[in-house]
Amino acid sequence: MGQVGGKVFRTVEWAPGRANGRVYYPQTLLSSTDIPEDVKERARALLDDCTKSSVGAYSPSNGLFIVRHAVAEYISARDGVASSPEDIYMGSGASDVIKAVLTMFIEEVDGKPPELGIAQADYYLEENSNWALTTAELERSWHQASERHNVRALVVINPGNPTGQVLTRQNIEDIIKFAKHRNLFILADEVYQENIVSKPFYSFKKVMAEMGHPYSKMELASFVTLSKGWSAECGLRSGYVELVRLNPDVEQAFRTTRAVMQCPTVLGQCALHCVFSQELNHIHCVLTERTKTAFETFNSIPGYFCNELDGSMFAYPRVEIPERAQQAAKQHEMSPDEFYCWQLLEMTEMQHAKVAVL
Ligand SMILES: Cc1ncc(COP(=O)(O)O)c(C=O)c1O
Repeated sequence: MGQVGGKVFRTVEWAPGRANGRVYYPQTLLSSTDIPEDVKERARALLDDCTKSSVGAYSPSNGLFIVRHAVAEYISARDGVASSPEDIYMGSGASDVIKAVLTMFIEEVDGKPPELGIAQADYYLEENSNWALTTAELERSWHQASERHNVRALVVINPGNPTGQVLTRQNIEDIIKFAKHRNLFILADEVYQENIVSKPFYSFKKVMAEMGHPYSKMELASFVTLSKGWSAECGLRSGYVELVRLNPDVEQAFRTTRAVMQCPTVLGQCALHCVFSQELNHIHCVLTERTKTAFETFNSIPGYFCNELDGSMFAYPRVEIPERAQQAAKQHEMSPDEFYCWQLLEMTEMQHAKVAVL
């Protein structure tokens, strides 16, 4: 969407960077008058935490302390619930840590083997209730999956991809109660939390804490990434998971597994540190404006319906295909949606993925 990255972000990213193929100590850059003082200060702080002041050296496998500390401060301020740098594990994007957390569930339970490591049990959101996730649907999915598997974890993407909704606080409470009742570990994919334009964001961690006992004692993994939210710098591969109240033995095993892969890219970690700056407000304003345009544009097209966009960079509109177009599709021996996609491609050269046919 042409969003321009922030000044602090862009400059610091360069300051401790690479030149002529070798990682170097950026003394020249750090004394340059072309670089703003606040940027130099941040670059110095980051370099001070790097082994031998170089981004070319390994960091601790869970990430640079300065970055994990900044993340923990951000989370504490967001939730009003304390967060510890020791619970933060940096990764090469959120995918890296999501995969790492999922591997904790690959084991036989009560004699039922997991298929291909892990099996997926789908649940569906309700479009007519602004893509809410209902307990009834979760129960349906749980019962179906439990016939063949031990259901161990519940993955919730909030704000949603591709539906762009933000769960209400009540909805999150219901999901937490369901997870407690069914003894499920919640993986909260909260990577779009900074992309919200119209509603408050409630993290699972905050809601669990505020619900009190026994929910405030539940384990949780929450994921965030540099690929979304603040700056969408997905190529830098940086993200983190906060593991909350993890069983100490499991946490030790997780830590050991992460240590084997050395560390995520240090430049990516430095970039994540830079998002915690004043420039976020501007990014929010641009996003709000563009989300409104997308919502209004979709709903102005005849036959289109789109729920109001709460955030997360996605719109998930529905298209009604008229009777005449359905007849034409038949004549071309195509399904109506396939016919629609071809027409769209031929008339506008716009590519359209066939997602769901109702
Ligand atoms: C909901 C969600 N979670 C996680 C990811 C992974 O992001 P990353 O680039 O940090 O691996 C994506 C990427 O599109 C996503 O949409």
